[in-house]
Amino acid sequence: MKVKITETVLRDAHQSLIATRMRTRNMIPIMDKLDQIGYYSLEMWGGATFDTCIRYLNEDPWERLRSLKKHMHNTYAQMLLRGQNLVGYRHYSDDVVEKFVQKAYENGIDIFRIFDAVNDIRNMEKAISVAKREGAHVQGTICYTISPVHTVEKYVELARDLAEHDCDSLCIKDMAGLISPHQAYVLVKAIKKEVNLPVDLHSHCTSGMAPMSYMAACRAGVDILDTAVSPLAWGTSQPPTESIVAALEETKRATGLDLQLITEVAEYFKKIKEELRCVLNPISEQIDTNVLVYQIPGGMLSNLVSQLKEQNALDKYNDVLKEMPRVRAELGYPPLVTPTSQIVGTQAVLNVLMGERYKVIPKEVKDYARGLYGRPPHKIDEDILVKLIQDEEPITCRPADLLEPEYEKMKAEAEKMGLVKKEEDILTYILYPAIAPAFLRGESKEEELVPIKTESHPCAVSPSHGIPTEFRVEVDGDVFNVKVHPVDGSFVIREESDKPSAESIPGAVTSHMQGMILSIKVNVGDTVKEGDIICVIEAMKMENAIHSPHSGIVKEIFFSEGDSVSSGDVIMAIE
Ligand code: CO
Repeated sequence: MKVKITETVLRDAHQSLIATRMRTRNMIPIMDKLDQIGYYSLEMWGGATFDTCIRYLNEDPWERLRSLKKHMHNTYAQMLLRGQNLVGYRHYSDDVVEKFVQKAYENGIDIFRIFDAVNDIRNMEKAISVAKREGAHVQGTICYTISPVHTVEKYVELARDLAEHDCDSLCIKDMAGLISPHQAYVLVKAIKKEVNLPVDLHSHCTSGMAPMSYMAACRAGVDILDTAVSPLAWGTSQPPTESIVAALEETKRATGLDLQLITEVAEYFKKIKEELRCVLNPISEQIDTNVLVYQIPGGMLSNLVSQLKEQNALDKYNDVLKEMPRVRAELGYPPLVTPTSQIVGTQAVLNVLMGERYKVIPKEVKDYARGLYGRPPHKIDEDILVKLIQDEEPITCRPADLLEPEYEKMKAEAEKMGLVKKEEDILTYILYPAIAPAFLRGESKEEELVPIKTESHPCAVSPSHGIPTEFRVEVDGDVFNVKVHPVDGSFVIREESDKPSAESIPGAVTSHMQGMILSIKVNVGDTVKEGDIICVIEAMKMENAIHSPHSGIVKEIFFSEGDSVSSGDVIMAIE
């Protein structure tokens, strides 16, 4: 029987290789042709696309969905949904999940690929039941990983459970590209034997094994394979569509897809790739066998690179790679996929950057330890658990059962702020309350791709590579922060004396990281004790509580909520 193909170029492929930066205008001109190829489905929404649209591209993700869908008459529209996390990074209440899935279906999604990062089916139940009720196809997902506690029997058990939850097909989601040909064969065979549902294999080329594993899966009877058209394939992305289609020709599993047409589509995406080359990190294009040791998924490697760049610490890349499996084992071997990849990844980054393990613990990591993300695959290391949540008792119920309905409350809030032009805007606000208001008010701008505008811009790296760009300079006893900005290929020195420096301010509390001030918890004149939370910084998509390093009275606050801070900036003075 034919193998069906899911094309990922509009979602996973550009998320894996070019930081999800493809614009809707890059997609529209090729949609008609994509629709003619004969793909089973086009993965085109969800995952990080929603976030990137509003954070960097000044694009309405709902609008993207509607305009792509207009061109799709022969191909199913598919999205990746993070279970109770939807397309965000925390669990939303059931009423929000309900609304989101309804609206996604209404706007054109045919197939919902639903997963939970720790394979806790209780986090997928609500989304599955709403999607089914609406009439969508639900692809229940198994996040594949390797650990002492992840066995074939466990995966088959999960597959059976998903089938009992009325899923229409199953996906083995190998987000890190770990699955070997042998494992792919054994796992697909075992699942197909137990469960009478179509099985999709989704892998990444990170370790170089994916095309071989796809062939092995075909022999084991896999029904659907995920591929990306060649310019956006390989590396941390999917195997190339053309190669897989050609490799299966003349066999019983031939896809029947039009190779000529796919080649024309590839020509188009070659140009798009050139246009976006400055956000392509060369690391993501390489075959990295380290992934077999570190088990870091494709999207995460490129995120890690930009996180470290943002923190000006790219030289710590290898240390962080080594720290990651250690943190993962301590946290009970979660598969590394959003949001657990951020949870493990950010904690590993912080452990290395702070020079002391678990010195700073993001809220999300604490919540994970509390059981709010679901049941970890294995017990969290006891010593670490105490560091994370002291003597608190982790929960054992379905995490979303603890959440109060939030839709109506947030809706009122969004309306009061004047953000709502259509119902979907409420969901955008609920999902991204920090960045959505500016976007919905039309105050956001599309980030520029021309080198070089701002310090944190993804393109603003190469000219200063390896050269320190920030200095403290003392002039007549006054300390200035100086940044070196490359302009038109040469370097100019700009003085940033408006920012106070730690040396010149008594009681200065500095930021350890680059990020955005999400909230300030104290006012000038307040008395604070050592260890009190004084503000929350959103960095690396995580909320990090900043604790006062000493007791005293708040004398001055140098930033407001919504401001960006750099590592070393003085946030406030507490004397
Ligand atoms: Co993927």
